[in-house]
Amino acid sequence: MKKYIAIALIATGTAAFAHSGVKDPDVMNRMMGMSALADQMKVIGSMAKGQMDFDADAVNTALAKMSKEASYIPSLFEKKALDPKSEALPVIWDEFDTFTARAKDLEAVTGSLAGTIETAADLGPAMGQIGKACGACHADFRAK
Ligand code: HEC
Repeated sequence: MKKYIAIALIATGTAAFAHSGVKDPDVMNRMMGMSALADQMKVIGSMAKGQMDFDADAVNTALAKMSKEASYIPSLFEKKALDPKSEALPVIWDEFDTFTARAKDLEAVTGSLAGTIETAADLGPAMGQIGKACGACHADFRAK
């Protein structure tokens, strides 16, 4: 448990402010875990759009971080914690195996991409694969 609370805390700053109305600490932690993933995606996206200089090492590092963060998702959601501000659907806890499998997919996709990014042209296809893994879980388990 300690491990990803630390990660979530490192990851956020601004997200913590956006979540100021959230009272449940478990809900807060999992939102911060998601924000950490989104932050890494933003770095990759900025480079893909040319808003940030391409840096293969930074992308490969971001991907490795995302894989690690994804590995924490099942434990972040293990407890059925609810909050009026949460977008988590209760079906998560009825179908926790599927939910976990979606997290494992993201872990595997990002893990296998880490270290493979060599040029800016690699970014688009990588983002497509990752986005699919995020979306596959959000489609069933996150309120839209
Ligand atoms: C295994 C399922 C799963 C995967 C994979 C997943 N998410 Fe999520 N995500 C959720 C759930 C569930 C919520 C709603 C959490 C809540 O509000 O309590 C969420 C919420 C979010 C949020 C909103 C957090 C907030 O501030 O409230 C962002 C941003 C997000 N996800 C980004 C991503 C990105 C980017 C990826 C892929 C790199 C990803 N997620 C992969 C399940 C997942």
